[in-house]
Formats: sequence, structure tokens, C-alpha cells
Amino acid sequence: MTMAYGEDDARVLALDGVSLELFEGEFTAVMGPSGSGKSTLMHCLAALETPTSGRVFIGDIEVSSLDDKRLTRLRRDHIGFIFQSFNLVPTLTARENIMLPASIAGRKVDQELFDDVIDAVGLRERLGHRPSQLSGGQQQRVACARALVTQPDIIFADEPTGNLDSRSGEEVLSFLRRSVDRLGQTIVMVTHDPVAAGFTDRVVFLADGRVVDEMREPTSERVLDRMKAFDAAARR
Ligand SMILES: Nc1ncnc2c1ncn2[C@@H]1O[C@H](COP(=O)(O)OP(=O)(O)OP(=O)(O)O)[C@@H](O)[C@H]1O
Ligand SMILES: [Mg+2]
Repeated sequence: MTMAYGEDDARVLALDGVSLELFEGEFTAVMGPSGSGKSTLMHCLAALETPTSGRVFIGDIEVSSLDDKRLTRLRRDHIGFIFQSFNLVPTLTARENIMLPASIAGRKVDQELFDDVIDAVGLRERLGHRPSQLSGGQQQRVACARALVTQPDIIFADEPTGNLDSRSGEEVLSFLRRSVDRLGQTIVMVTHDPVAAGFTDRVVFLADGRVVDEMREPTSERVLDRMKAFDAAARR
């Protein structure tokens, strides 16, 4: 897959021949320096942007072949998002925010799943609160719950802990980890943080729009060592 922005002198090749398979029921981290193409990759995978060349499949569905109506339906029914800024609706309570995508889609959320997710995110006491009455970590957990209750085939998270202190960040990460382990959720997460990467099953490293390495069963120490090695190589 390639993704070019701009033209002529202003042309930027944000993705330069990325080929990547993501596995069901896995928690994958995407890492790499600023500008290496992580967000672009997520946007192309999540059908928010169309790559300049190449194809994206989610299960058997070829994303790149869908018309607008089918794309909207794909995003609504098969894909979940968690952003760095939590993107909650300020006037709605936590419960209403969590239910919003499902109610827009006219779908019922399975009560048992809702209860599971709420207990897993530890938000039962906060369901009637509005975002301004919640801490950053709690708001991000609401955003996670919102992504999970529709049971999407895959959740894309772009630096979900980027705006959180380390303790709230770890709450969110252990929650994502549990949803992979317990619900079999598939998650892809962009992060700069080796500690966050340590919660995942696999780390994919990007540099200059290419996949340059990957690591299975990462620990934060090994990820940090690998990042240092890349830094040193880049400076040579
Ligand atoms: N809409 C756009 N128009 C033009 N160039 C873009 C656009 N989006 C991204 N780029 C360029 O593509 C490259 C990759 O950007 P991208 O946002 O994917 O990087 P990133 O790895 O997510 O970086 P960061 O860690 O800073 O978020 C950068 O050089 C960026 O300037
Ligand atoms: Mg980015």
C-alpha cells in the first residue's frame, strides 16, 4: 500500500509500500518516529482515507472496493475507534456516550455485554456523569467502552494514552488488554510509549512509511532497546 499527499515539490510519500497482516484476537502496537506514517496507516486501514495504491481487507471485505454507502456501513458495523482526544459528547452522560454509536445505528446493545464492559472499565458508579465530571482516564475508558459495546471486528486506537498520566494510561491499557483476552477483541494501537507497547502481543515498527521490523510478545525493555537501536542507526 502507498499513500502520497500533495503534488510535485510538495509531494510526501507517507506510506511507501507497506504490506501488513493483522491477526484476529490480537493486540498489535504500531510504533515509529513522528511522521513515519502511523496515523496515515491507521486511517487507510480504518477506511477513513483511501490509499493512493494498494488494497485493504477487513476479513473478506475489500475496503477499497466499497462505495460511500457501504463504507459508512462498514465503519459503523465493523470498526471501532479510540482517539487521543476522547471525542465524547459533552452534553451526554457516560452511559449515553457509550450507547451513542449503537443508537445512531438503530441497534440494541446486548445487556450482558454492556454489563461486562462497564464492569471491566470500572465505570458503574460514573454512568450518570458527564465528561466534564470525569477524569481524563475515566473519559478515555468511556471512549473504550463506546468502541467495545458494538463488538466491532477491529478497534483502531491512535495514541489512546497520549493525553493521560501514566497511572490513568495503565488503567486504559490493562482494560484494552483484558478485552482482548476476555472478549477476543482485535485491537491495533499507535503508541510512542514502550510501556504501552509492553501490553500488546506484537509491535510493528514503521520508519519513513515502511514497516522496518516487528516484535512478538514485546516487553517494555525490549521495545525500548529496539527504539534506541533505530535511533542510533538513523543518526549514522
Ligand atoms: N493530510 C495530509 N496532507 C499532507 N501531508 C500529510 C497529511 N497527513 C500526513 N501527512 C504527512 O505524511 C507523513 C506521515 O504523517 P503521519 O501523520 O502518518 O505520521 P505519524 O507517524 O502519525 O506521526 P506522529 O507520531 O507525529 O503522529 C508526514 O510527513 C506528514 O506530514
Ligand atoms: Mg500520528
